[in-house]
Amino acid sequence: MSQAFDVVVIGGGPGGYIAAIRAAQLGFKVACIDEWKNAAGGPAPGGTCTNVGCIPSKALLQSSEHFEHANHHFADHGISTGKVTMDVAKMVGRKDAVVKQNNDGILYLFKKNKVTFFHGRGSFVAAADGGYQIKVAGAAEEVITGKQVVVATGSNARALPGVPFDEEHVLSNDGALRIGAVPKKLALIGSGVIGLEMGSVWRRLGADVTILEGLPTFLGAVDEQIAKEAKKAFDKQGLKIELGVKVGEIKTGKKGVNVAYTNAKGEAVSLDVDKLIVSIGRVPNTIGLNAEAVGLQLDERGAIVVDGDCKTNLPGVWAVGDVVRGPMLAHKAEEEGVAVAERMAGQHGHVNFNTIPWVIYTSPEIAWVGRTEQQLKADGVAYKAGTFPFLANGRARALGDTTGMVKFLADAKTDEILGVHIVGPMASELISEAVVAMEFKASAEDIARICHAHPSLSEATKEAALAVDKRTLNF
Ligand code: FAD
Ligand code: NAI
Repeated sequence: MSQAFDVVVIGGGPGGYIAAIRAAQLGFKVACIDEWKNAAGGPAPGGTCTNVGCIPSKALLQSSEHFEHANHHFADHGISTGKVTMDVAKMVGRKDAVVKQNNDGILYLFKKNKVTFFHGRGSFVAAADGGYQIKVAGAAEEVITGKQVVVATGSNARALPGVPFDEEHVLSNDGALRIGAVPKKLALIGSGVIGLEMGSVWRRLGADVTILEGLPTFLGAVDEQIAKEAKKAFDKQGLKIELGVKVGEIKTGKKGVNVAYTNAKGEAVSLDVDKLIVSIGRVPNTIGLNAEAVGLQLDERGAIVVDGDCKTNLPGVWAVGDVVRGPMLAHKAEEEGVAVAERMAGQHGHVNFNTIPWVIYTSPEIAWVGRTEQQLKADGVAYKAGTFPFLANGRARALGDTTGMVKFLADAKTDEILGVHIVGPMASELISEAVVAMEFKASAEDIARICHAHPSLSEATKEAALAVDKRTLNF
């Protein structure tokens, strides 16, 4: 007799494991199936985010930032260290330990919330008895049933046509997080989020890094003024970013990789590097789901088609996270997971797509929420802008990191905040205030009137809000 559940979640990344936990909290009998294996072949729930995404990348960014500080900034504080060296194996080992803590944490949360975890691949078998039969192919094979199913199977790295990832010379995000020694020369294709974060890690550790971007503009989705400021900082650090290139043939040999490309001036360039990271976006993952068995509808990109509530074309089947439309972000996946669980319980789960923050964890960090100045112009919205530079912020001076600014965009008539854009220290943390403000439909004046601790970076947020009304106090 197969085990029967109210809810079966396929995929244990941030979308899936959070959906499973919330559904269990709401009284459902829940199973979560995830196939990710750790090095020993054991379960490693947490998906891309935990295993080869958000968490390990931030661990390496932290280690490499410490290295950069020790090498270049400690002396400003009167600290002398002598020659600083990096033990890459130890850094990668630490990253692996951080990942394992997160894997174990999720397994603990499943136990705590009485979610039954299955380690293996989940696939649709058939619709049955007002629900669905799902095969779990793991160490053993079994079929379980779910009255409702949540698909949260995530995404995979997109490869360049004809250039498969060998994870030795041509690396996806997976291989990029496991490089065993600092490459002398590293190229990345795509100057998006992964290109900039991974490029920063290996540049800080001493690699000569070139990022090749197809588009003529740098970070086109980011507010132009902020992107310009960030580019200036990356240029100064020695991160070579070539825009408007056309990548041609890529040849791998014993020693490394040769990348042929045409630069923005139309010149043919041949670049030899030790490693190449391809970071040109991700594709939804439905491999092995056997979607055809039940007629689950996919779009031309392979994403599962859902409505605004994450309902698929099949009754009782939902899909969340990277495998559906919208930004490929862990917190977006989580919010959808919670909302779906609550909808299954007859509640009114809600995800506000207008207030999903973005963060790029480089140095300086880049973070934003809401619309950019160029979007407001394109939408014909009358707006006021206010900026405040970290150069004029006492805490930033004390930290020794005064790069960047906070920028507010508010409705010209109502003063409602329409977008907040930050480039600078701890932008990832500062952006939360803007998200809260926008969720509560606050005006720039509201933020300007709130008492912010001194000295703190958050005072730059208050000052940028004041700047909307042209009345900064410290600039
Ligand atoms: P995933 O995390 O991809 O999880 C899907 C899970 O389902 C996986 O464990 C997979 O093995 C499993 N699975 C798939 N098919 C099956 C099946 N048939 N049966 C069983 N299991 C299956 N986002 C951020 O918000 N912040 C960041 O800082 C950030 N950094 C990133 C850095 C990198 C290098 C990368 C690659 C991504 C990063 N992201 C970040 C994006 C983030 O990782 C994804 O948006 C997020 O993981 C999506 O969650 P998900 O649950 O939809 O899918
Ligand atoms: P991306 O979409 O951020 O950037 C891809 C870049 O590659 C774009 O600038 C694009 O113009 C360029 N490109 C595409 N094809 C190209 C080609 N043939 N030649 C040259 N350039 C080309 O994708 P990325 O960096 O791979 O990351 C995938 C996703 O993972 C992100 O969109 C984001 O959703 C998520 N992520 C989030 C992070 C965060 O929140 N901090 C960190 C890393 C990833």
